[in-house]
Amino acid sequence: MALKNGIVGMSENEDYIIYNRLEELDEASQWLVNKANEALKTSYSPYSKFTVGAAALLNNSEVILGSNQENASYPAGLCAERVALFQAGARFPHAAVIRLAIVAKRANEEDLRAGGPCGMCRQVMLEFEQKFNLPYEVIFRIEDGKWIKTKSAQILLPFSFGKRNL
Ligand code: THU
Repeated sequence: MALKNGIVGMSENEDYIIYNRLEELDEASQWLVNKANEALKTSYSPYSKFTVGAAALLNNSEVILGSNQENASYPAGLCAERVALFQAGARFPHAAVIRLAIVAKRANEEDLRAGGPCGMCRQVMLEFEQKFNLPYEVIFRIEDGKWIKTKSAQILLPFSFGKRNL
């Protein structure tokens, strides 16, 4: 699908908007990115030294933070996105996600890095969307210091497997 240019430095289609700088996002989105930044501090990543933070805004106004939690048995660790979403599900099972922000940074560096959610996290993100049949926005940094805000989790996982398939 063709990208259409909106204001300078912004490109938009029906699935997502790309911003040249974080400051171009709306205030509510920037605020949630800052929350995800706070979550970076709780990352337990002694093996990869790669820190990830996630912040989920729920429709009951709660903000649930998550960070990646690693393990000496590497596959036992969990990504920041799933730590946040599973926590949201466990604490507020009847609340839907409205917006999810994700940030990533090497532990020994100051600047954020580009990093979309991994495939397994996309699957879990999709489940939280389909649970309430309510699309939610996903925000993360992409290449060249740009940011993307998707209009749903579903667009990150085309031709997906979901509860309708069971
Ligand atoms: N990681 C996340 O927390 N989220 C992702 O979507 C990608 C990867 C974590 C897992 C591991 O602790 C570290 O980043 C390096 O892969």
